[in-house]
Amino acid sequence: VREIAIKRCPPVTSDDLNSLFASSWEGHQRRDFGAVLRRSLVYFTAHHNGRLIGFVNVAWDGGVHGFLLDTTVHPDFRRGGIGLSLLRAAKAAAFDAGLEWLHVDCEPELAPFYEAAGFGPTAAGVWPVTSEASQ
Ligand SMILES: CC(C)(COP(=O)(O)OP(=O)(O)OC[C@H]1O[C@@H](n2cnc3c(N)ncnc32)[C@H](O)[C@@H]1OP(=O)(O)O)[C@@H](O)C(=O)NCCC(=O)NCCS
Repeated sequence: VREIAIKRCPPVTSDDLNSLFASSWEGHQRRDFGAVLRRSLVYFTAHHNGRLIGFVNVAWDGGVHGFLLDTTVHPDFRRGGIGLSLLRAAKAAAFDAGLEWLHVDCEPELAPFYEAAGFGPTAAGVWPVTSEASQ
């Protein structure tokens, strides 16, 4: 059994997060995660022998809605329950913070992952933000 540690809001560098994302998100472009984490309600990380191998972030509207973003588990560690552990930790923290709903969106093939955690379906949309007001 692998020793995996789930941590709440530990210090984590942009380099570590960019390495994890490069392993997991096709076409990942280097990001400044400092700006992301400063606006996070709570985030959780997973570590194996000290190395960052998992991440999830909860963004917050200031009220009862949170939004799960960037759920990631390194390919070498998938299908071992780490993703679900990160989601459960996020849900517990959201409950403690007084949230009533967690939202997420994903590619259709990952719907079973969020269903396994307990997410139900909803109609949702996504709108690319461009300079043209009418599009
Ligand atoms: C999505 C992701 C975080 C899942 O992490 P994980 O640690 O492998 O997930 P778990 O092991 O906790 O999976 C729990 C259950 O969810 C379902 N599941 C997980 N990954 C799945 C997949 N790729 N396709 C279908 N079902 C999946 C399965 O029912 C699984 O249980 P099982 O392994 O006993 O069949 C990981 O695949 C990942 O990082 N993907 C790339 C980044 C990404 O697209 N993230 C989603 C953002 S919306």
